[in-house]
This record gives sequence, structure tokens and C-alpha cells, in this order.
Amino acid sequence: MLTLGFIGTGNMGAALASAAAKNVENRLLLANRGREKALALRDRIGGEVTDNCGAAQSDYLFLGVKPQMLPEVTPELREALARRDRDTVVVSMAAVTSIARLKELLGEDVPIIRIMPNTPVSVGEGIILYSCSGEVTREMERRFLEAMAAAGRFIRIEERLIDAGACISGCGPAFVDLFIEAMADGGVACGLPRALALELAAGMVLGSAKLTLETEKHPAQLKDEVCSPGGTTIQGVRALEKGGLRSAVMEAVIAAFNK
Ligand SMILES: NC(=O)c1ccc[n+]([C@@H]2O[C@H](COP(=O)([O-])OP(=O)(O)OC[C@H]3O[C@@H](n4cnc5c(N)ncnc54)[C@H](OP(=O)(O)O)[C@@H]3O)[C@@H](O)[C@H]2O)c1
Repeated sequence: MLTLGFIGTGNMGAALASAAAKNVENRLLLANRGREKALALRDRIGGEVTDNCGAAQSDYLFLGVKPQMLPEVTPELREALARRDRDTVVVSMAAVTSIARLKELLGEDVPIIRIMPNTPVSVGEGIILYSCSGEVTREMERRFLEAMAAAGRFIRIEERLIDAGACISGCGPAFVDLFIEAMADGGVACGLPRALALELAAGMVLGSAKLTLETEKHPAQLKDEVCSPGGTTIQGVRALEKGGLRSAVMEAVIAAFNK
């Protein structure tokens, strides 16, 4: 049995804790500044509510507070971790906070896994980018991946690429939501009921994404396979190219990265 502590049970902390709760081998310790949120989460997924130092008495300690809150939260954690007679692996989901910065806050020897999850974690279809500090052993990494498997796909990448990756996997759900909404709007303009139009648009995105991942075909090839000569789809592609869809999407990723 592994003990997983969560400090900050807001949107992302709660989503990851909910995924962890699906594995019966995980024991959860939940801590949040406003205790009611942790209590409500416990009622939903199980586990025990504690304070921040209590949550640090764990094999994996997830930091789910906003990045600017870290300097406030970490001093007592640093002490609590130093007092422990076994390793706690700290799992930070804080955006733009490097492993080097986390070590400054928590101690040089602390094993750290920096993750960048996305909102589909809450339905078990997340993309979770992660990088490990040198102290994280293969066994620590293996047990982490096993404990969190219900969250989605874990992809280990070099830490220097994590911010760029996050502009696709982390920000991307919002970009895709715009696309789904716009597709549904088009359908409504053509006479479809709103709910049906949304179901078609979202289901189509899900299926198209699966097709790309499972066939490993280039998206251009998949697009060509839908466009019959003189047909309807190529007319839609023409309209999207005229509207600058590709350039707009590239600019969105780059704008997020620059921010
Ligand atoms: N949301 C995303 O899509 C996303 C994606 C990738 C990474 N992240 C990262 O995930 C982290 C959390 O983001 P979020 O969107 O989940 O924010 P959030 O919903 O605001 O959650 C933050 C939680 O931290 C709690 N908290 C604040 N100070 C605390 C303290 N001193 N001790 C214990 N708990 C404390 C807050 O409690 P109160 O309820 O009392 O305020 C709140 O529940 C951030 O570092 C963010 O960069 C988020």
C-alpha cells in the first residue's frame, strides 16, 4: 500500500486525487487551506483529511497549490520532510516552477517529480508530462506511474521542454473547446438542435484524436482520406484555410509559451 498526500485540493489537486482513489492500493491524505473543500472531496472519493504536515507523512506528496503560494507552504514541509526517516517523493504540479526552484524551497536531497497535468485527468484521459530529479529512482518512478495510472497517459520529457509541451497539452483543452463550440454553432446554424450538435462535435474530436494516435498516420494523410475529389469536405477545408485556422492555432500555442 502506498500513501499519497495532497496539499491543495482545488481543481487539479482534486482531479489527481480522484484518479489516485481508483487504485485501492492507495491511501490518501487530503489537506487544504479551507478544510471544507478537503472534507467534501473525502466524502466523494474516500481518504483522510489532515493538515499540510500530516499530508507530508506520505510516500508521494502532491503539491496542488498555486505557484505563488509555494514559498508560504514549503517552510514547514521542508522541516517535516527532513524529520522523516523514509523518503517522500514530492510531486509538484505547479506551472513554470522548475525542479531547481523546488529544491531551493524544499531541500537539495528531496526526490522531486515535476508534473504538468491537464483537465482531462478528471475523466481519466489526461496527458501528464513529467520530469524527475536525479534522486528519483526507477523504483520510485515505477510505483508513481502505477499508483496514478487512472489519471491518463504519462509522458516523461526533458524538463527544458515541459513548458512548451504544456502549451499543447495543458492549454490545449481550452483551444479545442473553442473549436468544439464553433463546430456546434455551425451545426445549429444549419438547423441541428444544440445538444445534438455538441454531442456530434465533441464525439468527432474524440474519435479523430484516437484515429491519429492509433493509426500513427500523419494528420495530413487522415485529412486527405476524408476529402473526396469535388466533395463537400474539401470545401470546408478551403473555408478553414481562408480563415487562417492553422496560423491561428500556431499563434495560440506560441502566445501561451511567450506568456
Ligand atoms: N487547472 C489546470 O488546468 C492546471 C493544469 C496544470 C497545472 N496546474 C497547476 O495546479 C496547481 C493548482 O491549480 P488549480 O487550478 O487546481 O488551482 P485551485 O483550484 O485554486 O487550487 C489551489 C488549492 O490550493 C489551496 N491552498 C492555497 N493555499 C494553501 C495552503 N497554504 N495550504 C493548503 N492548501 C492551500 C486552495 O485552497 P482554498 O480553497 O482555501 O483557496 C485551493 O483549493 C497550480 O500550481 C497550477 O499551476 C493547473
